[in-house]
Amino acid sequence: MAINPSSHEVAERVERRWAILVVAIVTVLVAMTVYTGLHWAMMPPSRVETIRPETLHVSGEFIESNLGSAPEADGSVTVRIVAQQYSFTPQCLVVPAGVPITFRATSSDVVHGFLITNTNINSMLEPGYVSTFKTTFAQTGEHLMPCHEYCGTGHQNMWAHVKVVDRAEFMQMADKLAANSRRVSCVQ
Ligand code: CUA
Repeated sequence: MAINPSSHEVAERVERRWAILVVAIVTVLVAMTVYTGLHWAMMPPSRVETIRPETLHVSGEFIESNLGSAPEADGSVTVRIVAQQYSFTPQCLVVPAGVPITFRATSSDVVHGFLITNTNINSMLEPGYVSTFKTTFAQTGEHLMPCHEYCGTGHQNMWAHVKVVDRAEFMQMADKLAANSRRVSCVQ
């Protein structure tokens, strides 16, 4: 009996080993949660831009006359967009191909999604924050821009168009507009 431990003893030893392993895994997970929680609380992500959603339409960068595609002095284009239940403003974007584009977008009410088909642009638009990202469209063409975050009963009808046109065509559209308010979109 001393040489051959009973099956009961073997079972106990194996169970103890597994119990220790499980406790160790849980301890590691809890430690990770606590560590990341404290770490992010002390070092929030850099470059978080906040904005007051209630006054978007009153003043600042996201007033309606400033939305759309704006040619910049350095040759790039900044596109400003506001999402609201259940549309985007503008509903149809025009951007030039082969030019660095900076999107700046936010929401005036709830969380919306911002996705441009056949590109890697995929972001959330949150009220109170400005989402910024840069891209360059290689080719001209048309894309859809559906909201892909459930935002209420009209969510499935919330989408916009993106037209990528050639650079010369885009500049022609911009030149037709008054120099101080050159904001291009399909709906001029
Ligand atoms: Cu906006 Cu879904």
